[in-house]
Amino acid sequence: MKRDQNSVKVIDSHAHLQDPRFASDVDQVIERACEGGVEMMICVGYDLQSSRDALALAGRYPQIRVVAGVHPHDAKSMNDQVLSELWELGSDPKVVAIGEMGLDFYRNLSPVEDQKKAFRAQIKLAQELRKPIVIHDRDAHAQVLSIIKEEKAGSNGGIMHCYSGHLPLAIELIKEGFAISFAGPLTYSNAKKSVETATRLPINKILIETDCPYLAPQSHRGKRNEPLWVWEVAKKLAECQKKSLEEVAYITANNTRQVFRI
Ligand code: NI
Repeated sequence: MKRDQNSVKVIDSHAHLQDPRFASDVDQVIERACEGGVEMMICVGYDLQSSRDALALAGRYPQIRVVAGVHPHDAKSMNDQVLSELWELGSDPKVVAIGEMGLDFYRNLSPVEDQKKAFRAQIKLAQELRKPIVIHDRDAHAQVLSIIKEEKAGSNGGIMHCYSGHLPLAIELIKEGFAISFAGPLTYSNAKKSVETATRLPINKILIETDCPYLAPQSHRGKRNEPLWVWEVAKKLAECQKKSLEEVAYITANNTRQVFRI
């Protein structure tokens, strides 16, 4: 999908380009995205090393910004040393937010208590750095929301990434200072709940993302996902919001810049 220079561009607000699955062809993947009208990609870390790798990539590509943090899966690796290194990383101007952080009670790869501790610690870190946060929530809606409220986690803004929940929770999160980001699952044929949410939320609170290499959109389902395919999410969102693709691309890109202050 090549687009001419003057056409509207889009931002992929959540990608893992440092993932080993991109190791052999990340340059081509980024080039395809840029040629296809993806003006910026937010490369998200899930532990210290992947956050450093994301920063290295951002050093090579001005189109890349970084989110540095420890994923709930890796929460058991969190300690004071990790936290202070994260503080260093988080101070880099190319690091536009802290995350992805949160709770994942679906896979439970780290003990629940470790997940909660790492989540709270990173919220505090982001508050010290005055940066927004990127939240991962899987099967932990109530607990995520109560920690957000207790810690005033939205004080510098933030994003609920890869949202697939109900409208009322999304509205609650917006009240707490968060934007809602949709990924490939919005395009799946069984995405009734997400579609309903994406239809009724105010467009100025919506971001789009790929979460690549995961969650390829319906038309590429089962394959390795990549930033170019964020257009598929934009298309579906345009359908939901009854707006043109150009409008949705323009508005969501603006929203992304606003949240990350870029
Ligand atoms: Ni992710």
